[in-house]
This record gives sequence, C-alpha cells and structure tokens, in this order.
Amino acid sequence: RRHSSGSEPEEEPSSSEEEEEEEQKEGAEKSSGSAVNAAEEAEGGVGRAGAEQALAGARAPEPQAAPSRAPCKPAVFIPVHRTPEIQEARLKLPILAEEQVVMEAINDNPIVIICGETGSGKTTQVPQFLYEAGYASSGGIIGITEPRRVAAVSMSQRVAKEMNLSHRVVSYQIRYEGNVTDETRIKFMTDGVLLKEIQKDFLLSKYKVIIIDEAHERSMYTDILIGLLSRIVPLRHKKGLPLKLIIMSATLRVEDFTANTRLFSVQPPVIQVDARQFPVTVHFNKKTPLDDYSGECFRKVCKIHRMLPAGGILVFLTGQAEVHSLCRRLRKAFPYQKNTMQNAACVPLLMCCFHLPSLSQTLPKIDLNNYSVVPPDEGDEDRDFDSDDDAAGSDLDLDLGDGDSGEDEKSDSSLPLYVLPLYSLLAPEKQAKVFRPPPPGTRLCVVATNVAETSLTIPGIKYVVDSGREKRRCYDRITGVSSFRVSWVCQASAEQRAGRAGRTEPGHCYRLYSSAVFMDFEKFSAPEITKRPVEDLILQMKALNIEKVINFPFPTPPPTEALAAAEELLIALGALKELKQQLAAKLSCPISPLGRVMATFPVAPRYAKMLALSRQHQCLPYTITIVSAMTVRELFEELDRPAGSEEEAAQLKGRRARFLQMQKVWAGQGPMQKLGDLMVMLGAVGACEYSGCTREFCEQNGLRHKAMLEIRRLRGQLTTAVNSVCRDAGLYVDPKMEPPTEAQVTYLRQIVLAGLGDHLARRVQAEELLDDKWRNAYKTALLEDPVFIHPSSVLFKELPEFVVYQEIVETTKLYMKGVSAVEPEWIPALLPPYCHFGKPLENPPPSYCPGTGRVRCHRPSVFYRVGWQLPAVEVD
Ligand code: CDP
Ligand code: MG
Repeated sequence: RRHSSGSEPEEEPSSSEEEEEEEQKEGAEKSSGSAVNAAEEAEGGVGRAGAEQALAGARAPEPQAAPSRAPCKPAVFIPVHRTPEIQEARLKLPILAEEQVVMEAINDNPIVIICGETGSGKTTQVPQFLYEAGYASSGGIIGITEPRRVAAVSMSQRVAKEMNLSHRVVSYQIRYEGNVTDETRIKFMTDGVLLKEIQKDFLLSKYKVIIIDEAHERSMYTDILIGLLSRIVPLRHKKGLPLKLIIMSATLRVEDFTANTRLFSVQPPVIQVDARQFPVTVHFNKKTPLDDYSGECFRKVCKIHRMLPAGGILVFLTGQAEVHSLCRRLRKAFPYQKNTMQNAACVPLLMCCFHLPSLSQTLPKIDLNNYSVVPPDEGDEDRDFDSDDDAAGSDLDLDLGDGDSGEDEKSDSSLPLYVLPLYSLLAPEKQAKVFRPPPPGTRLCVVATNVAETSLTIPGIKYVVDSGREKRRCYDRITGVSSFRVSWVCQASAEQRAGRAGRTEPGHCYRLYSSAVFMDFEKFSAPEITKRPVEDLILQMKALNIEKVINFPFPTPPPTEALAAAEELLIALGALKELKQQLAAKLSCPISPLGRVMATFPVAPRYAKMLALSRQHQCLPYTITIVSAMTVRELFEELDRPAGSEEEAAQLKGRRARFLQMQKVWAGQGPMQKLGDLMVMLGAVGACEYSGCTREFCEQNGLRHKAMLEIRRLRGQLTTAVNSVCRDAGLYVDPKMEPPTEAQVTYLRQIVLAGLGDHLARRVQAEELLDDKWRNAYKTALLEDPVFIHPSSVLFKELPEFVVYQEIVETTKLYMKGVSAVEPEWIPALLPPYCHFGKPLENPPPSYCPGTGRVRCHRPSVFYRVGWQLPAVEVD
C-alpha cells in the first residue's frame, strides 16, 4: 500500500504486481475525490484563505520537510514498445545511466532537481522514465513546462515518436494551439499555459508530476511557477494526493532554488548527470568587430568550409532577419538551393485606403464602468499568457538584409553547403530538418538564434561560430516599454554555445570576439523578473488571490520598488481596489472586478483595460487592431536609411514620398485625425487587409510585411480571447474590417486615454516657456525633461494641447511615439485617479520608474506639477 496514502510508511513487500495495480486505482480514485474537494475549497472561503496563507508565509511550510517514504510510488510498470534504432540511440544518452538514481530520488522526495548538460537527455527521457514507472497510469498526467514554444512542440513530437505513442497520448499545449485529448498522459506546454491552469485549479489535481524544464533560463513565468509549486506540493501532500515536482536545469547554478529557505524548507536533492562531452578547442578573435558581426560570421563559415575537415557548422546569430540574411549569403557562395526573387506588382492607390465617411455627431462619451464582466472561472479557455519565444520570435525589426552586395566571396570549394535556418517561429516541419542528416556530399550549416543554445540539440555539429551576441528584450528606462536590443551574451551562454561543438567528437568553437571582451561578460544573466516591469505579473498573481505579493516566495524577488510601481499603476488603472489606510507601498491591494476581466486578456494591463472598455459602441475590432499594432514593433519600413548607391537613394526617395502620401490617407480626415498615429496604424492595417495582406502591397506602401502578418496573427488570437471572455460579443475572426465611424473614432480616443492615462502629456504654453529648449515641448508626469512629438508622427505639426503616447524613445531628444490627441474635458471624467483636486502635495513621496531606478513624481501630484489647469467639470 505504498501508494495509497502518505501518512503511514509501509515496509511490507507487495504480493504481486496485479494486486498493486488494483490498489493503485482505488487509491487514485479516492484521492481524486479529495482533490475535487480541495479544489472546491480552494475556490471558496476557507480553502482559498488556506492556499493564500500557504503562499504568503515567509518561510516554506513544513509538511514536505520530512521526505515521506515513497508516498506515491507507483508500483506498476507500463511497457513501451520502442523501435530498435530508437532504443539504441537512447542507450547512448548519459541520463539513461542515471535512470535508477533519478527514479529513486523522485520516489523518495517530493521535489528533485536534475542538472545536466544540454543533450544529456533530460527533456526527452525523464518523462519516459516516469511514464514507464506508472506515474501516468490511472488517469494522472505528467506535465512538462518549457519557456519556449518551439521546445514544447518539438519535444512532444520527439517523445511521441520515441515511445511509439500517438499525439493523443503525448501532446502539447502552447498559446491557442495544442493537441491535448482525454487520453493525454504526457503533456508538454509553455510555462504560461501551466500558470493559467493554476488559476483554474490551484492544486493542479489532474497532474501526478510537474517537470519544470530549462529552469536555468530563469524566465519570469518559470520563476513564478516554482514559487507557486513550492506551496502546491505540500498542499497536495496534505490532501493525500501527492504531487512530484522536478526542476531541470542545464547549468549547476541552482542555489537560488536550493539554498532558498523561503522556497523549500528542506533542500531538495540535486542529481548531476554527466554529459559525455568531447573536448572543444575555443578560438578567440584577436579583434572584436563592433558592427558587422554577421559579415564576420559569413567569412568564418567560408573559411571553415574551405579549409577544415568534414563536420557540421552551427552559427549563433541574434534574430530571424539576420539568420535569413546570412543563409542567403551562404547559399549564394556555396550553392545548393536556389533562391528566387519575385518582382513586386503595382497596386492601385485606390485600394490602399479605407473609405472614411465624414459624419458629425454630438460628442459621445464612453462609460468607464461598462466593461464586460463574466465570472472569471468560466469561458476563459483560450486565455494564455505565453511567454515570449526567443528574441527571434518577436523580431520584426530590420529585415533589410545586410547588403548581399559585391563582396560575397565565391567559393572554390566544390562541396555544397547545406544551409538551414533555425529560430523559434520557423514552421515546425522546417525546424525538424536540422535533426535529419544532410544530403550526401554536402556539409550541414545551421544558422540559428539562441534556441540552439540549450533547448534543441542538433546532431553532427563539429564547428560552432559564435557571434557573442543575442537579442534581448530590454525595458525602456523611462517608460518601461520593451524593445529588443542586441547585446553581448553572458559567459554561461558562451560556454553553452561552445559545448554544442563537442557532442559527437572533439570540436572547435570560433568566438568572434577577443578573450578580453569575454572576460568582461557577465557570468550569468540576471533572472528576467529582476529586469522588467512586473505589472502584468502582479495582475496575474492578484487574479490568483495572492494579495500580499511581497510575501510571495520568489526564487529571486523583483526589486520592491518595481512591485510598488506595478501596484500603483494597477490601482490607477482600476484593476486593484485601493484600500483606505493601506498605502500602495504595503502591496496588498486586492483585485477589482475590472482587474479580473483585465487579467483574462493576454496583453499588458494598459492594453487590457482598453479591451475591457471596448465592448461599447462596437469598438472591439478596432481596439483589438490598435492593441495588436502597438504590440508589434516597427510597422513601417525604415525609408530614411542611408542608400548604397544613387539609384537606391532615388528609389528610397520615391518610396518615402509615396509612404507620406499614404500616411495622410490612413490618418483619415477631420476629427478622425485626432486619433493620430493610432489612426494611421488602424488605417494601414485596414488597407493592408483589404488588399489581402500581400507582400507587394506592403512593399509598395512602406509597410513591413512581417509586421503585418504578425498583427493579423495577434488580431486572431485576441479576438478568440475576447470571445471567450465576452461570450456574447460574437466577434468574427476576419482580418477584413469596415472602417470605424467618426463617433467610434472618438470613443476609441477615449478608450486609449483610459488605458494610457499615465502617459499623458501637455504642451508647454507660450507664457510658460522656461527657456528655448522648451519650445514645442511637452511636459509629462514621468520626466523632468522636455519631450517632443516624434517627427514621424502625423501630429508632429499639429501640436495638440493634450496627448497620450505609447512610448518615449530617446535619440537626440526625448520623443513621444504613438501619439493621439486628447480633449481636456475627458481627463477628469476618464482618469479620476490621476486628478488631484485638493491642495498639491508639498513633498510628494517619490516613487519608482520601472527599469531605471529613476525617481518620478507621485501619481496624485501629476497635474499640479506640470501646472495644468483642468477645466471645471462636474465629476461625480
Ligand atoms: O534536455 P536535454 O538537453 O538534456 O536533452 P534532450 O533534449 O532530451 O535531447 C537528447 C537527445 O535527443 C539529443 O542528442 C538530441 O539530438 C536528440 N533529439 C533528436 O534527435 N531529435 C529531436 N527532435 C529532439 C532530440
Ligand atoms: Mg532539454
């Protein structure tokens, strides 16, 4: 009866396997009954308080302290029929030698950490060990979380193939997509998907085991999951339905998990899997190219291919665009496949615009209290707060190539290079190509982003070319808005990359930077949670009824100031209830009904508020489009770029003129124009979809085709999400849309104001000019310095008195982008939390500006600080 209950350790040997199986089923049924009760309790009063208490405690709860003797050791062995080839390949994996150690540790401990080099077989084999040991028998599920979508999909396919099981049994679930069925026993998913499931069922009762994979990446959701699971595991134990937690990591730096007494009261055992790693000789460059590292990669690959013996080459670059550009160059130099270019066809101007009616109506107002509320536990099936994939996933910037011009070296080598790209958004069937041997008589060359660093292992790689760069999500030091920037990797990543060369035989790693530069790299990259604004995370946690976020057992806590800033923003947005006598600094405000609605949308809280308000006046399709367009960066092609030749310069000039013309068309006429840059986005997407979103249309009109496709995808996803929250909204997922009416545009301006309230700016009036640097400047709540409307904005010349902006970018000056005009009388009506009608605070308490450590003014003083005269309006 080892498995039936955790309370009484059992010594007696079992009589027979069948008997054990019988008992196992019984036990499971009984337990699942109690799981239902537990879940019900967790939903309602007592249970929820208990769960919350468990989460809020500063120290880890005790129950799991005494490792119970095999509380849920399944005694059945589930046979798996693998093909001889698969079996042979498996036996070569280092983790196979450790199967017994791994399984004993899992049987004896509620939480186990497994560390092993990439490629040692953790992801593909540990779920199989557990399956064979019966952890998925009698209805339980083995869940594995991955920070990257690409890994969740490809690993589920690989494991299904190895086990000779169908995708109905070994399945995956990523954002809005998956093949999970009632038969699913092994489920790969992104960390965001599991977090969502915790919101529905705090105890995760359908899982027997949760594996958190790639924990070394320290993605924000992975960190939160580990914090939550550190409390769920003992709760499940108490309910007599033990859950196993396995944390898998590629590096040994696991002290944040093991030595953290707030997280686990007893240090979980760490199992080290030794990888059979062949020696890798590392070659540093003498000089470090500053800009053209892609060109340097090209030259290095050419050299390797010409001069060095057979063996695959793996190149690490930063993003999708670069990967494709290098692939093109390499294919040209060592032809194996031919690339064809198509000529863009002309699209008549007429098709490029919405036909905007010009109606005049009395000034409409949106209702702040009109947001679509449904009980949050229903109908949010499709909700997802999937984490981002590698930078390539969201890489929409600069697909300009890097000038495949003259300098391309022509190869004298007759051996063709079989060049394959690899990045996260690549179609799965194309990704799968890298796992297959290259065509005979060719050399494999994979050009990858950092997906190839730990998530995927490519066979046959002997040479690694490391640009030393990666694309990182960075947060604007002023606004907290994210962008992708290319920066140096950390030392741990560089070592991982080098290690990819020594999987099957001794290899070489060429680092395109000097050893001195390497010594300056950070040792490890900081956990994501410490580097970014956390308002979306805090909203999700509040939706889980974790009110005192400060007490949450984070593996590495975010700075208190970041938590305070997030709480403050969420209160201002109305997502949290501000408690009297309880300052935001205490970080314990509960979620509001509006907050619950907002938490169901997979976008940042500011945008979620816009969506929540947009059911009024049929604004949803437009808000969905605007939010999607604001999420995707760089909608428009960079036409100001320096040209390589006179001919190109003339061509660019022509295209720019055409774009400016189009920009005016998209901005609409009359009152429509006041929605400013957001109207341009809306018009551009509308026109583009009207033309079928073709590459030709985009090229003709200065739009980035990739960005437009991404917007289409996001619009589809958001529409699905909105439909599931607002059951009766009944939106169609149709890329084509009618243009908004003039009244709708006015509502949209108000909706945008309600969401971007803290991004309000007012033009400095002539009489207020302090000095010349304030000419045409705006004053914002966040900054002391003057900010300006970006010259690319359609409102650049208009200079409305009040505007809201999407973000501030700093170039020669501080510029606002994504600008939209606001009527002053809306401000007190739509942003009551920002309007302080009493006496201004003498010394407003400083608060924190995300990502900067910079101090900004406290919320209620916003208006007085900038000397704004609010119009006298009645506010109730
Ligand atoms: O998780 P870890 O990095 O420890 O290793 P893994 O992902 O389980 O990979 C184990 C082995 O399976 C590697 O040698 C891969 O090359 C191989 N594999 C494969 O051939 N095809 C896949 N689709 C996935 C993995
Ligand atoms: Mg793995």
